[in-house]
Amino acid sequence: MKKVLIINGSPKGEASNSYQLTHSFIEGIQTVEGLNPEIEIIDLNQAKIAPCKGCFGCWTKMPGRCVLHDDMEEILPKLVEADLLVFSFPLYYFSVPGPLKTFFDRQLPLSLPFMKDREDGIGNGGHPRRYDRSHQRVVAISTCGFYTAKDNYGAVERMFDHCFGKDRWYGLFCGQGELFRVPELKNQTQAYLNVVKQAGNQYGQGLLLGLAKPEEEISKQVESALHKDILPKQVFESLADASWQIEETGPDGKTKTASGALAFTRQMAALYNPKSYPGHDLVFDMDYTDLGERYQIVLQQEGSRVIIDPAQFQTPEMVVSTTFTIWKQIAAGEIRGDEALMKGMYSVSGSPAILMQWGTYFTPDLETEQADEKADASQGMQSTTGHNQAGSNPKSARKGSKWTNMLVFLLPFTLLWALLNNPPIECAAWSLVGLALIAVFFYPYKKTIYDILAMASNLVLNAMYLLGVSYPIVFSLSLLLFGVFWTFSCLPGQIPLCAWYSSGNFGREDAFKNPIFMKTNWIIALGWGICYLVLAACAWILMGSGQKDLALILAYTLPAGMGIFTIWFQRWYPNYVMLTAGKAKV
Ligand SMILES: Cc1cc2nc3c(=O)[nH]c(=O)nc-3n(C[C@H](O)[C@H](O)[C@H](O)COP(=O)(O)O)c2cc1C
Repeated sequence: MKKVLIINGSPKGEASNSYQLTHSFIEGIQTVEGLNPEIEIIDLNQAKIAPCKGCFGCWTKMPGRCVLHDDMEEILPKLVEADLLVFSFPLYYFSVPGPLKTFFDRQLPLSLPFMKDREDGIGNGGHPRRYDRSHQRVVAISTCGFYTAKDNYGAVERMFDHCFGKDRWYGLFCGQGELFRVPELKNQTQAYLNVVKQAGNQYGQGLLLGLAKPEEEISKQVESALHKDILPKQVFESLADASWQIEETGPDGKTKTASGALAFTRQMAALYNPKSYPGHDLVFDMDYTDLGERYQIVLQQEGSRVIIDPAQFQTPEMVVSTTFTIWKQIAAGEIRGDEALMKGMYSVSGSPAILMQWGTYFTPDLETEQADEKADASQGMQSTTGHNQAGSNPKSARKGSKWTNMLVFLLPFTLLWALLNNPPIECAAWSLVGLALIAVFFYPYKKTIYDILAMASNLVLNAMYLLGVSYPIVFSLSLLLFGVFWTFSCLPGQIPLCAWYSSGNFGREDAFKNPIFMKTNWIIALGWGICYLVLAACAWILMGSGQKDLALILAYTLPAGMGIFTIWFQRWYPNYVMLTAGKAKV
């Protein structure tokens, strides 16, 4: 069993940003089988630890013991015994916070007074340890306020080198620390915390193996993910600046308080991803109905800007009217934007197509491998950026693997319909060739259950045809199966068949949480289901009465009509819902 002692040096205790990282790191350690760490936390915010008096009494009068009687008496033996010391603290003035410095000072009883040269080249000598602590490993975990930890931790690194030896401790320092307390960004920060947990797990493996440097177990991939910025510098700094809700009123350094809604609008604008620029400027009108405040966000090729002065307002492409409270709830992920719209919690006017793309516009471009690594953990992050329609998350779109392709479902059936006129053996042979080509060509795409069922249907129907089942029966049965698949997918708990294929442009699986997307697809899928069930019945009856040509004409024209309806409906219906559902109730 390994003893882990966490020293939390943040005045915020467990609410500390840095401690969130520490918590994840320790979680990672705890997942190492066989390590069974015994964890104790010392909160310097709670502990009674007076500053060192500088009397050297711990070296002279009572060697190894401090003249002060406070919590440090109990802590010192634990410091010696621990197998792993984890220091968790914020960066304060490019160093450690005062209480942690006091804690370091009060470790003097653990050193001997003599001066010895060091072997690691740090400083000009040091005091030997009073107790053997060679078994001990040290980790320092810290967040800081600037966008990067790089070049901010020089003093801390030097101090840890002096205290624990050069390269004898592991530091996990992270910029943008204040993001960890922003609920609206929890998906981004959680993705980072997941990497920290991975680091903790790999470190724990090293600890279990008894390595002198457990950190060498941490993979390069994890290390590099830990060193990447959570948000791009400019996005982070704009968000951070806005978060203070303070306006500079002039060059004399005077400030005034800014409204929460304005800060929110600025933060939203800061999250704009210029890669989503649609080729012309877009103006969003943010109408906070409860506050009587209105601001505009202009999305331009090079970035975004917020217009505060109504005199300078431009004609907006879209006006979103809702209370500030609702906005905050949506941004914090407490309620999905699309759900809020369906419930009539806000109204939009302008182009709903733009609203559907909200997530694309306001999801910052992380543009790193790390972003892709994190994508899985951060599904739905667009909810952080406002009331997106669960769609078009660029991260989802960037994911390596290909999403579904409807042709994989359609081609096995169309192949059969095209070949059924031939003798069964030819039909079967060409079908096999066709299916093999489909399998090879569409190999990279994710397969749905309907793709597999379509392939299986082709094989079974061909087998029946080969065994002497008549053309009308095989044909009608194929239409029936096709119709059943569509209809079945509309049952409660199922995903409408077409939703599987159209979700690629709307955040993949995330689109399944979007009520507008799902309802649109449900109606379309039901339409196709009914269309083919009717067709199957008609084909059966018409072919049975010798009217094969009429059956075939119907089999072409009805789906063509349904296709035209689908194209129109999938554009019209979401617009209709957004403009009516939203508007009616606000
Ligand atoms: C007094 C004070 C000094 C700070 N000094 C720095 C600093 O030198 N560099 C920096 O990047 N951030 C600095 N910060 C920001 C904190 O390091 C940052 O907010 C950190 O995430 C807080 O972590 P915690 O929640 O774990 O306490 C400072 C904050 C305070 C309150």
